Amino acid sequence: MIIIKNSYDIKKMKEVCKLTADVLDFIKKYISPGISTEEINKICHNYIVNKKKSIPACLGYQGYPKSICVSLNNVVCHGIPNKKIILKNGDILNIDISLIKNNYFGDSSKMFMVGKCSHIAKKLCKVTLESLYSSIKIIKPGINLNKIGKTIEKIAKKNNFSVVQEYCGHGIGKNFHEEPYVLHYNEKKQNIILQKGMIFTIEPMINAGKRNIFCDKDNWTVKTKDNSLSAQYEHTILVTENGYEVLTLRKKEKI
Ligand code: MF3
Ligand code: CO
Repeated sequence: MIIIKNSYDIKKMKEVCKLTADVLDFIKKYISPGISTEEINKICHNYIVNKKKSIPACLGYQGYPKSICVSLNNVVCHGIPNKKIILKNGDILNIDISLIKNNYFGDSSKMFMVGKCSHIAKKLCKVTLESLYSSIKIIKPGINLNKIGKTIEKIAKKNNFSVVQEYCGHGIGKNFHEEPYVLHYNEKKQNIILQKGMIFTIEPMINAGKRNIFCDKDNWTVKTKDNSLSAQYEHTILVTENGYEVLTLRKKEKI
């Protein structure tokens, strides 16, 4: 069952999603060689709790031990912050921020490039962002949800990259994850018509090599099987009367 949001829900979702976007803007100045992913976690946690008066949604979620996810290089998603993981020149990392405010959830992630990155790392980030933006731009009431995945897969394939299939976007509101589940690849069986008032995330994970993945011994960290780089961007999106609104849009961000 897909929950259609009313005007109160939408007002509250706009608030929490704005706070979520602010965390990604705030953390940018700390991302440089030498900082550990545990320090990044601590800075985000304190900002979320003390400045945003919000709850980090990941902390304790299905036993997840930290407040944010930090996925470095060949890590696809759900990387656990660790004081032994130190950023170095050339790294690419995804920071995934999920907040709860007034019982509503916001969810967004973006890539950060540390110092000077390789051509392929930069291209992977650029193509992943382009795939997210292109899939957002087609959103309006009446279109089929499967067009989102179709758009993402087409762009990834054109660039010789692959789309991770095991994780997907999701409806979001008073639940962290709810229907509809949003696949990032072409799946005709996914037959849902978008309606005004739906809110969901799109969060493609794109690999520079093959799409295959595995989960680490820690039971959270997901990595590429072939050790290739992986990138991800995520936004929370509202379907409006005539199109869409990106609820987690950052200050200087333009779709
Ligand atoms: N933020 C992730 C998402 O996009 C969920 C992470 S769950 C965690 O859905 F427990 F790993 F934090
Ligand atoms: Co999400």
